[in-house]
Amino acid sequence: MSSDRLKNVGLRPRVLVVGFAGHQGKEYLSIVRENADVVGGVDPAPAASALADEWGFPHYGVLDEALEKVEFDAAVVTVPHSEHFPVCTELLAHGRHVIKEKPFAVTEEEARQLIHLAQRADRSVFTLLQRNFNPVFRFAQKNLARIGQPYWFSYDYHLNLAHPTTGWRASREQAMGGVLLDMGYHLIDVLSGLFPEPPRVHSAFVHQYREMRDRRLEDLVSLMCSYPSTGLAGSLRISRHNHEKIERLCVLGTEGALNVAPQVATLHSVGGLPLDHCAWAGPKIDAVRSMIAHHLGHLDDRYYRQDHLQRQLAAVRTIDGIYRDRLGEQNKLADRCA
Ligand SMILES: NC(=O)c1ccc[n+]([C@@H]2O[C@H](COP(=O)([O-])OP(=O)(O)OC[C@H]3O[C@@H](n4cnc5c(N)ncnc54)[C@H](O)[C@@H]3O)[C@@H](O)[C@H]2O)c1
Repeated sequence: MSSDRLKNVGLRPRVLVVGFAGHQGKEYLSIVRENADVVGGVDPAPAASALADEWGFPHYGVLDEALEKVEFDAAVVTVPHSEHFPVCTELLAHGRHVIKEKPFAVTEEEARQLIHLAQRADRSVFTLLQRNFNPVFRFAQKNLARIGQPYWFSYDYHLNLAHPTTGWRASREQAMGGVLLDMGYHLIDVLSGLFPEPPRVHSAFVHQYREMRDRRLEDLVSLMCSYPSTGLAGSLRISRHNHEKIERLCVLGTEGALNVAPQVATLHSVGGLPLDHCAWAGPKIDAVRSMIAHHLGHLDDRYYRQDHLQRQLAAVRTIDGIYRDRLGEQNKLADRCA
């Protein structure tokens, strides 16, 4: 069986790449090959067959065909959101490890089903979240205690895309959510490495484009999180069509402040004096490289797997809860108008 094979020292995992002809799939291909043998690729896109030839691995149009024809230990999954659950459940049902793009799942129920299948099959499902392998975010997590008791955070993450969203991200059925699910998953995961799961979250969903409003796919989301037991509160703003591309997290504590952007984290005293910092010039691909190597090297690590799955369950629960509250409010409004 695949797992026993991996325990033989020196054997590289055999990997199937699912969705390899897309944006993320292509980015990961050469990196996966540094640590594993790519033994096949699944992607129905017209360009996929030529790409597989170029890279020298067999191409399959559908996952079933690959499962029938090729032996592999793990799959790297980079498909549109609506395909994550069916692809991952099928892989787990066939006893394969999964290394996948975010989101881990869209609903809490699906997250629990994936965890159940992974535990039953004794296989891993790892979600690719590159900030956890960026030295700046690691510095933030390690040094948070130095600012005393955190009482406020503010997290902004914006893209400056000049045109309306296109492709599967513009389809309700395929995207299954707007910027909260697509971009916000990263932020909710970063926050879950710093703070407990927020018991209360209020949200505002904003649309720049009418078609996105009609499809209930938010272009901008603003969240207010509160943690009544500790007195912590915090806000997030996430959008695709800002005037500038920016990511910045600021945490205020009783004894200082922590400012984090992808290339530098700075620890300040109360009043703003810089006390310590961590700068990282990248390139971003280095964080991606260590992330993929780490996950491929921990496929059979049950402790790491368990922690990872619980953290992903919390992120999915938070996002699913926000969307469900939102839907509840919309239904109430519709009832009132009827
Ligand atoms: N970590 C990041 O910063 C980041 C950035 C971009 C995208 N992503 C994530 O990566 C995933 C893919 O996004 P993308 O931008 O690469 O999309 P994409 O459209 O560029 O690529 C998706 C690919 O999946 C293929 N595909 C569709 N259904 C399939 C199926 N059932 N089996 C196999 N292949 C299938 C498509 O043909 C396409 O080639 C999403 O989950 C997205 O959230 C993450």
